[in-house]
Amino acid sequence: MFEDLQPAPADKILALIGLYRADPRTNKVDLGVGVYKDRDGKTPVMRAVREAEKRLLNSQDTKTYLGLAGDAGFNAVMAKLAFGPGADMTRIRAAQAPGGSGALRLVAELLKRTRADATVWLSDPTWPNHMPVMRAAGLQIREYPYFDAASGFVRFDDMLAALLTAERGDVVLLHGCCHNPTGANLDAAQWQAVTDLVVERGLLPFVDIAYQGFGDGLEADALGLRLLAAKVPEMVVASSCSKNFAVYRDRVGAAMVLARDSAQADVAMSQMLSAARAMYSMPPDHGAAAVRIVLEDASLRADWEAELEEMRLRMLRLRVQFAEALRRQSNSDRFDFVASHRGMFSRLGLTEGQVERLRAEHGVYMVGDSRINVAGLPEDGMDDLAKAIVSVLD
Ligand SMILES: Cc1ncc(COP(=O)(O)O)c(C=O)c1O
Repeated sequence: MFEDLQPAPADKILALIGLYRADPRTNKVDLGVGVYKDRDGKTPVMRAVREAEKRLLNSQDTKTYLGLAGDAGFNAVMAKLAFGPGADMTRIRAAQAPGGSGALRLVAELLKRTRADATVWLSDPTWPNHMPVMRAAGLQIREYPYFDAASGFVRFDDMLAALLTAERGDVVLLHGCCHNPTGANLDAAQWQAVTDLVVERGLLPFVDIAYQGFGDGLEADALGLRLLAAKVPEMVVASSCSKNFAVYRDRVGAAMVLARDSAQADVAMSQMLSAARAMYSMPPDHGAAAVRIVLEDASLRADWEAELEEMRLRMLRLRVQFAEALRRQSNSDRFDFVASHRGMFSRLGLTEGQVERLRAEHGVYMVGDSRINVAGLPEDGMDDLAKAIVSVLD
C-alpha cells in the first residue's frame, strides 16, 4: 500500500528544535520556534487561564457533544474581540475551530464552496503554512510583494501595484497584526489605502489575526481588521488564541465571516459548519471554554489583559535592547528596524549561509530565512549575540 510513498519533507522549524535540544553548548540561544517565552525561557500557562480551568473542572458536569460550531459563548466573545464592541453583529458569524490553522482551513473551505475559481493572494513572504492550507482546500495562490529585506520595511507601493492586478472576486490574505515572519506591519494610513483598494476592486479581504495583543495592544492590533470591517460588504477572518492566551496545544481559534446581511451570514455559517463536519466534525472544547470564561468574567479578563500586556512590553523592551546592541556592535543603523517592528518575529535579512554559521560557530538558532523569535532574545547576553551576528556578516 505505502511502497510508492516518499517521506514528506521535514518541517524546518521542528527540525531546528531537534538540533537545538541536541546541542550541548550551555550558551546556546534559541530564536527559532514560534512560541512566547519568558525571561527563563518558559512558556507558562497564563494566570487567568489556569483559574478558568479550575472553574471549569469544578462546574463541568457533562462532556456531551456541543455541536459543530463549538462553544456559542466563545464564538460571541471572539467576534467582539476581533471586530470590536461597536461592530454590526447581525452580519457577523463565528465558528470555533481547532486553532488558527483550523480556522484558516475552515475559511478556505468556505471560499472554495463560494468561489471555486478564486485566487488567494498571499504576502511574499508569509507564514509557511498559509500556502499548504489554501492548497489543501483546492484554492489557487498568487503572491504580492511585501517585505524589503534590505531596509526591513514593507514594500507598500509594490504591494498595492500587485493587488491592482487582482481579478474582481479574488481573495487577499492579510496578517491582522504582527506579520509572521517579517515583523513589518502596515500603518493606519496603509490599512486605509488597502481598504480603499479592496472596496474599489471588489476583492475579498481575508484577515489572519494570530497575535492580537502582541504588537501595539489588544485594540490597536485590530485596527486594520476594523477599518476593513467598517467599509467592505464582506470579509473573512481566522483568529487564533494559541499565542495571546498561551493555549497552544489546546487548539483554540475561530473562523469568522462578515456578510452583506444577516441572511447571507447564516448561509455562510451553515456552509462552514458543513465543511467542519466533513473534516473533524466538532472542535475540541476545553481551551475554548477556558478562553470564554476569561473573556466573560471582568476580573479574569482584567488579569489576562494585564499579563498579556506584560508579555507585549517585554518583547518591545527586548527589541529596543537588541537594536541598540546591534548598533553598538556593527557601528551602523542597519538593524534599527528591529525596534520598529512589532510582534514576536523579525526577519534580520541574513543569508542562509550566515544563519548556518551562527548556528555552527555560535550556537545561535534561528529559522533559515533569518526570522528570529524576539521573546527568545537573551536579556543578559544582547551584546554577545549582536557580536556573533556582526561576525558572520561578511
Ligand atoms: C500567521 C499565523 N497564522 C496562524 C497561526 C496558527 O496558529 P495555531 O494553529 O497554532 O493557532 C500562526 C501560528 O504560528 C501564525 O503565525
